[in-house]
Amino acid sequence: MRFLSFATASCISAVTATILQNGQIRPNNYPDTTVSTISSYNSSWQTYAPSAPEISYKGRWDDKYISWWSAPGLKFGFQAQQIAISFGNYTSDGVLIAYRIDGQDWMLTNVTANSTHLLVTPSTAGFNLTTPQGALQSLELRVTNWAYGVQINCIHVSGGPARLVKVPEYTRTMELIGDSLSAGQYATLEGISSYSWGLMYGLGDVEFSITAYPGICLHDSRCYGNLHGQTLQWLKIPDTSGRALDIYGSDPAGIPDWNFTAHAAADITVINIGTNDNNTANNITSAEYYTSYIQLIDEIHARWPKSQIVVLSLWSGFSQVGNTWAQGAGFLDEIQNVVKHFNNGSLNQRGECTSCFVYYFNTTGILEHNDIGPQYHPTDVGHVKLASHLMMYVKLVFGWDLRQTGPEVQHDTLYWNDQSSY
Ligand SMILES: *[C@@H]1O[C@H](CO)[C@@H](O)[C@H](O)[C@H]1NC(C)=O
Ligand SMILES: *[C@@H]1O[C@H](CO)[C@@H](O)[C@H](O)[C@H]1NC(C)=O
Ligand SMILES: *[C@@H]1O[C@H](CO)[C@@H](O)[C@H](O)[C@H]1NC(C)=O
Ligand SMILES: *[C@@H]1O[C@H](CO)[C@@H](O)[C@H](O)[C@H]1NC(C)=O
Ligand SMILES: *[C@@H]1O[C@H](CO)[C@@H](O)[C@H](O)[C@H]1NC(C)=O
Ligand SMILES: *[C@@H]1O[C@H](CO)[C@@H](O)[C@H](O)[C@H]1NC(C)=O
Ligand SMILES: *[C@@H]1O[C@H](CO)[C@@H](O)[C@H](O)[C@H]1NC(C)=O
Ligand SMILES: *[C@@H]1O[C@H](CO)[C@@H](O)[C@H](O)[C@H]1NC(C)=O
Ligand SMILES: *[C@@H]1O[C@H](CO)[C@@H](O)[C@H](O)[C@H]1NC(C)=O
Ligand SMILES: *[C@@H]1O[C@H](CO)[C@@H](O)[C@H](O)[C@H]1NC(C)=O
Repeated sequence: MRFLSFATASCISAVTATILQNGQIRPNNYPDTTVSTISSYNSSWQTYAPSAPEISYKGRWDDKYISWWSAPGLKFGFQAQQIAISFGNYTSDGVLIAYRIDGQDWMLTNVTANSTHLLVTPSTAGFNLTTPQGALQSLELRVTNWAYGVQINCIHVSGGPARLVKVPEYTRTMELIGDSLSAGQYATLEGISSYSWGLMYGLGDVEFSITAYPGICLHDSRCYGNLHGQTLQWLKIPDTSGRALDIYGSDPAGIPDWNFTAHAAADITVINIGTNDNNTANNITSAEYYTSYIQLIDEIHARWPKSQIVVLSLWSGFSQVGNTWAQGAGFLDEIQNVVKHFNNGSLNQRGECTSCFVYYFNTTGILEHNDIGPQYHPTDVGHVKLASHLMMYVKLVFGWDLRQTGPEVQHDTLYWNDQSSY
């Protein structure tokens, strides 16, 4: 820990986009937390480097402290009156982050490269409230968009002991491997509105990663501009975004590998991949898909031998059939054959699978046609339905209890009818 003087944060014009929710423009004038200089705000600040052991990173980050994939974040305990975070050059312009003290509702603010943001002061919601069992207050931050990211330059604290404290990591671990459906594309708050988030944050007390990226295939092929499929990319730190190309280039040899031994293995891995392979825009063959699926599961199992792997069937949208609607099913037989491949020969005399670690999760019957938005992705309600069913599946099949018993998981989903009689 050391004292620093601070450069003036620059003001960079941010990306603007209009999000429609149910046809209405969603307000996105989130509070601006930028501070021009820390020293003018309060001179007695202490600064932690991004490598400080007190900071727990969630999801995939590289050695430059740049975040990747969907809904990555960080968390630490603190004893301080104010906390500010300086974001580095590699932060996407105007990227939306969610952050909160302990179990308060998520707050949102846009952050930009080369800027410092004051996220906690005594007037921040929850600041004066007690924590359970005398625990320290904690701050958690999440990047909401799947293509954008932040770079942490340093974290500043002032007031009181002005210190950060490591929060112990949860012992339950999960991974979700997927494409846009799992990354939260077109959900109102993207990554933190996705079913992946709803499932893994919603279970509570879980360390997790959402290695999902829009347009990506399972098979290692160029799909919708993504240079590689998940059989290759899942082994890497970064996703397939343009910013990853800018920083690491297109040669796989130059893209850093994720160090699996430096991070906890996932107890449960959920996979929902193949909707892009199963599209005439990409035309991955049935044999390529089947072989690549086995390859991916072999790769996971080699690194995490004890991981229980849940394979989702592809719902592939809905179409009108006669006077009603029916769910599709991409690579229906291929996915079942992949599961059979891993479970073949594992049945005991009573027909029970004693050594099986690959499970088939049938998505048919969870979503209905109007749970899919005009852009072919689940609505927020669709994501919540998927998350809820998967949470109960994890509870029933693996015996995990539901530990998120109050704090908000999905943000901006609170709407209700206040009319008591008609
Ligand atoms: C903040 O982020 C949201 C979501 O990405 C975006 O729509 C909005 O334009 C951003 N605002 C600013 C000022 O960057
Ligand atoms: C960040 O600031 C440095 C130094 O002031 C400048 O050279 C660099 O271009 C800035 N980066 C961005 C992304 O604005
Ligand atoms: C930002 O980028 C500029 C130009 O590449 C570099 O001089 C500066 O050191 C960088 N700043 C940080 C904080 O990384
Ligand atoms: C916390 O207490 C301080 C000092 O009494 C006060 O200024 C601040 O507004 C309070 N914060 C909240 C969120 O109530
Ligand atoms: C800095 O902030 C702390 C905590 O709010 C306060 O105790 C201290 O007096 C402030 N120092 C200055 C120089 O404003
Ligand atoms: C991966 O992490 C392990 C454990 O922290 C470490 O011993 C090893 O050197 C790392 N490997 C690489 C290639 O960085
Ligand atoms: C995929 O196959 C379909 C049907 O044969 C064909 O119309 C389409 O052009 C193919 N797409 C690509 C990208 O090759
Ligand atoms: C997608 O999967 C379905 C069901 O297995 C299959 O009939 C269809 O040919 C596949 N289409 C493509 C483009 O892979
Ligand atoms: C299961 O194992 C049997 C005998 O080894 C083999 O003939 C069969 O093809 C296997 N089935 C699958 C789906 O892998
Ligand atoms: C999936 O569920 C649907 C609806 O219950 C059922 O019709 C279908 O047979 C199931 N598929 C498999 C492979 O079990």
